[in-house]
Amino acid sequence: MENNIVLVGFSGAGKSTLGKQTAPLLGLRFVDLDNYIEQKLQYKVPQLFSQFGELVFRKSEYEALEELLENDGQLIAVGGGAPCYGQAMQLILKRSFSVYIKMPEDELVQRLASSKKPRPLTKDLSPEELKQYVHERLEKRAPFYEQADMTIAGDGITPEVLAEAIKAKIQ
Ligand code: S3P
Repeated sequence: MENNIVLVGFSGAGKSTLGKQTAPLLGLRFVDLDNYIEQKLQYKVPQLFSQFGELVFRKSEYEALEELLENDGQLIAVGGGAPCYGQAMQLILKRSFSVYIKMPEDELVQRLASSKKPRPLTKDLSPEELKQYVHERLEKRAPFYEQADMTIAGDGITPEVLAEAIKAKIQ
């Protein structure tokens, strides 16, 4: 239960890509929470949003996280909203060592604008609306991310640097 790492941070911060490459360096199994939910419920995240609404997605997200954190030996990348609803951040803090992958706001906007991952909350936004969305949401979500056990600048970070930084903190 103690032996889990959770990566938190805004959408587009690179949690999944970085997490996947960092997990083996720490001898951990990589789990992407969005993928885990999709496999468990047999629905894609955008479909969950469109057919059942965001609230149902958030509930499923929390339940999936709770379920995953019953196991250990995992590096889990959670969706940008996951730590910001209900008691999720408390759960993350209690059952894992958490890392906030912090990215500059402009970088997030650029990365989201060119990302291929289907994201229901941003897919229909104009460039101007996307900028506004990131600005407003980040302000609301940062206080949750900042509770993480460790914060690291995500801009240009390599899996090796992240793995070493985590090891230095947890050993
Ligand atoms: C969301 C972020 C997504 C995904 C869902 C909702 C959010 O994950 O969980 O579309 O609320 O910011 P990423 O952080 O991987 O984009």
